[in-house]
Amino acid sequence: MIFEVIITTINADGIPHVTPFGVSYEGENVLISPYKPSTTLDNILASKEAVMNISDDVRVFAAALTNRQACSLKQANKIKGFRLADCLQHVELALIEKRDDAVRPQLVMKKIYAECHRYFNGFNRAQAAVIELAVLVSRLPMLPRDKILAEMHYLQIAIDRTAGENELLAWSWLVDKVHQFYAQAQNREQI
Ligand SMILES: Cc1cc2nc3c(=O)[nH]c(=O)nc-3n(C[C@H](O)[C@H](O)[C@H](O)COP(=O)(O)O)c2cc1C
Repeated sequence: MIFEVIITTINADGIPHVTPFGVSYEGENVLISPYKPSTTLDNILASKEAVMNISDDVRVFAAALTNRQACSLKQANKIKGFRLADCLQHVELALIEKRDDAVRPQLVMKKIYAECHRYFNGFNRAQAAVIELAVLVSRLPMLPRDKILAEMHYLQIAIDRTAGENELLAWSWLVDKVHQFYAQAQNREQI
């Protein structure tokens, strides 16, 4: 199973980086698999640590894909990095193994500290729709335009029926990004 989370890392100067990742579990360990090149990969290899934030605030997912800052950070408890100030749960991780690969290495991370901050309210379809669109946005150059637009159209149903303010805002950022990407692609074709 893959779980969509927010990974926070720091670079050599202590500058934080916030990115959505799909992680999996191997026993108690967390596996993070970044496609190269990746700032998250570079940061984890340099600092040997990361924080896995479990969040139902889909603005954080959409913001990372649209170059926005939509979250505040707090110092982690046991490591040098940061966690999302507002999340359901955060888990501080230490790198214990790197399984190298030319395209997508696997980082095996050991849990060294975990804390729950809020209760999970239950599944929300609009949140799932925002996550789906965020995944599509992260693959805009690779996927056919018709597929992206058709899926976005279908996901809109869950947004219309079940979204709150945060989901509507996150959705609008991603939809804008999709339209911007195709407008720029059209311009490039005309040049
Ligand atoms: C829900 C979700 C899950 C993602 N999972 C991964 C992943 O497992 N590996 C990956 O390389 N990128 C993943 N991405 C894309 C990254 O968030 C990001 O766009 C980029 O590829 C990683 O770049 P960075 O480390 O330079 O920030 C995911 C994006 C979303 C929205």
